[in-house]
Amino acid sequence: MDPDALRAKIDGLVRSARARGAPCDWFESLYRDADGRTDLVPWADDAPNPHFMAGMALPGIPTGGRALVLGCGFGDDAEALAALGFEVTAFDVAKSAIEGCRRKHPDSPVRYEVRDLFRLPDHYRLDGFDLVLEVYTLQAIPLPDRTAGFAPVADCVAPGGVLLAVMRGRDDEADFDLEGPPWPISRAECGAFEAGGLILESWEDFTDDEDPPNRRFRAVFRRPSA
Ligand SMILES: C[S@@+](CC[C@H](N)C(=O)[O-])C[C@H]1O[C@@H](n2cnc3c(N)ncnc32)[C@H](O)[C@@H]1O
Repeated sequence: MDPDALRAKIDGLVRSARARGAPCDWFESLYRDADGRTDLVPWADDAPNPHFMAGMALPGIPTGGRALVLGCGFGDDAEALAALGFEVTAFDVAKSAIEGCRRKHPDSPVRYEVRDLFRLPDHYRLDGFDLVLEVYTLQAIPLPDRTAGFAPVADCVAPGGVLLAVMRGRDDEADFDLEGPPWPISRAECGAFEAGGLILESWEDFTDDEDPPNRRFRAVFRRPSA
């Protein structure tokens, strides 16, 4: 499918999901129709996200332990963490994405689960993860719906653990652009991670080398040790 047709299809799915008051429902339709084909899912590229991979070299990022990947798509970031030696759980709201992960990585040690970020099980919070990875999930949910999505992410970080987040960025005072997805995130919105008990360790604001270039934030938040 040519990029304009794919964009038009996504715009239609997003509009109808929002009209139903279910802004995360359209992902399932997209993944189901794609049937594992990465050319039909704009963010899928058969490789771990380069900004996440570069972030793994930042000071204080754990080198092993329990990791949680949210909105994992086809699982390339989760597989990269497993290859680094993490014990990985990865979830996505779209059942067809998780089926795609299992087909694409049949011998994977990653625990793939169908889960909604807004309804995570208590054991994620109670057990906690040494590393929580958020790449482009919250930005795929418009305001105001995503506001309630930051706290559950923070909750999953164990004492002493970190959240590594990579996202499209916008100024705090910039108008919220209704033309997404994606819907860029502001530093002020990420204050919800701090309200959830995390402490900011690093914040990078950069322009990527895509064509056209995008403003990105890469942030590391840590939960203080108990
Ligand atoms: C833009 S994609 C990014 C996927 C992947 N992280 C990547 O970088 O390739 C956003 C992902 O978040 C998932 N997602 C959206 N809303 C979600 C929710 N409420 N709970 C869990 N996953 C969600 C979508 O199905 C999709 O796979």
